Amino acid sequence: MVTACGLSKAFGDVHAVRGIDLDIRPGEVYGFLGPNGAGKSTIMKMIYAMVRPDAGTLDVAGIDVIAEPRRAKARLGVVPQDNNLDPDLTVRQNLTVYARYYGIPKKIAHRRADELLEFMQLTEKRDVVIYDLSGGMQRRLVLIRGLINEPQVLILDEPTTGLDPQARQHVWQRIRSLKRRGLTILITTHYMDEAAHLCDRLSIMDRGRILVTGTPRDLIDSLPAAEVVEAHTDNPEQALRAGSHLGEGEQYGDGVYWFVAGGAIDLDPIVKAGVAQVARRPANLEDVFLQLTGRDLGE
Ligand SMILES: Nc1ncnc2c1ncn2[C@@H]1O[C@H](COP(=O)(O)OP(=O)(O)OP(=O)(O)O)[C@@H](O)[C@H]1O
Ligand SMILES: [Mg+2]
Repeated sequence: MVTACGLSKAFGDVHAVRGIDLDIRPGEVYGFLGPNGAGKSTIMKMIYAMVRPDAGTLDVAGIDVIAEPRRAKARLGVVPQDNNLDPDLTVRQNLTVYARYYGIPKKIAHRRADELLEFMQLTEKRDVVIYDLSGGMQRRLVLIRGLINEPQVLILDEPTTGLDPQARQHVWQRIRSLKRRGLTILITTHYMDEAAHLCDRLSIMDRGRILVTGTPRDLIDSLPAAEVVEAHTDNPEQALRAGSHLGEGEQYGDGVYWFVAGGAIDLDPIVKAGVAQVARRPANLEDVFLQLTGRDLGE
């Protein structure tokens, strides 16, 4: 549904995207996980024909995006990273005015707007102006606005950044419901739990490159063990020594990590060494990123 080969983009001497390949299947929820500046939004913008690639090929639903951006755009629904709603218009008007850009007849636009408001539980806000809407509600509105042209491919650039936990859960649930309808969904995030929850497959990115691609399970299974003991301290060297019975630890910044196979584990020596923050937890996508880059996703 989305294929790319050698896709690249530089802004001056900032190489935002450095030659990436993609092969996203119909009906898949595909994620891009990476820290600030990794190049996630630039990839999305190239796919929705907002930014022209410097090099490479890019197809959406069999259409060459570089040669035929308008035709490609008609197949795409876009939820950009920033909420670019019209603040003077009401919730419903934001949907119907947006529908005009796609040449959707008025009657159909109004019907779709009402269905989408219902889908996102925003019906009671339909006549409220954007100024009076909370950030979370604005985000939900932008999300359904991306569906007004009944796209085959939906692009979600950080759909839940800034949402409270309950609103995030609600948006996740809606995304899963769209997947069940057969939509292909591309999603960027720097939340590893979001990627793990929603994505069939994902690419972990850093500095314009894809480091690794796979299912969340396969990526986590590629780690040395299923569980991690994680400690944070001012004195990582001391923590490493105190935890030597767990095997060879790895230090990244103020964090020390031991991959452990499971079974009984004694954390006492580490606690006794004065490390207040130490815990055992399942290995996750953050660990995959850490192993590949030596930094955490938040940086
Ligand atoms: N229009 C632009 N002009 C100049 N530099 C840009 C432009 N757009 C992006 N960049 C730079 O390209 C790099 C990648 O940016 P991009 O927005 O794609 O990252 P991102 O992974 O989406 O980050 P974030 O998580 O912060 O949204 C960054 O260094 C950014 O500063
Ligand atoms: Mg971005």
